[in-house]
Amino acid sequence: MKQNFTVKQFDESHINEVIHINWTCLPEHYTKYFILKINQRFPKAFFVALVDNNVVGYIMCRIETGLSSIKKFSIARKGHIISIAVIPNYRRMGIGEALISKILEVSLPTYKAEECFLEVRPSNEEALYLYRKFGFEQMKIINRYYRDGESAYIMALNLQN
Ligand SMILES: CC(C)(COP(=O)(O)OP(=O)(O)OC[C@H]1O[C@@H](n2cnc3c(N)ncnc32)[C@H](O)[C@@H]1OP(=O)(O)O)[C@@H](O)C(=O)NCCC(=O)NCCS
Repeated sequence: MKQNFTVKQFDESHINEVIHINWTCLPEHYTKYFILKINQRFPKAFFVALVDNNVVGYIMCRIETGLSSIKKFSIARKGHIISIAVIPNYRRMGIGEALISKILEVSLPTYKAEECFLEVRPSNEEALYLYRKFGFEQMKIINRYYRDGESAYIMALNLQN
């Protein structure tokens, strides 16, 4: 069943729900301190999805300057999607897509990012489908990236054309 949801900028009143979603949906967990720090530094790149005023999903991003994920030997200003998750009962309703759209259409232009990148497990088919839908491409693989030994794909999207 489709649900009406809204997407809002994260504020500190959402912290406990975001932590709960992070811990229940992903093996990569973040501390309250880390999440609040990210929000302090990049408040316009952190969104929550709400249903009836309850947080059902979030996306957290930071801006980095470093080696381009796309162009060899170039330095780029990059949006790094650190974490995205939607509570299982609310999946396949367009919430993940709405959260990524906010980052690509609102946050990254605001922060003048030239590209966007993220890490994803090769086994995470839902996420791979989602990212490919936006045009993210697999740029490289980092062996044993995750604590449990799984590799990561680095996927990136060029925002400049
Ligand atoms: C990945 C995740 C955020 C997707 O959220 P979602 O709200 O279900 O995604 P959406 O409903 O917006 O789906 C958007 C698109 O993603 C793809 N997709 C999402 N789930 C999919 C699935 N189970 N099977 C196939 N494609 C899927 C589809 O292309 C879908 O578009 P469509 O519905 O028009 O076909 C969600 O599955 C999740 O929280 N997973 C656990 C946490 C996680 O793995 N995060 C990513 C870490 S890198």
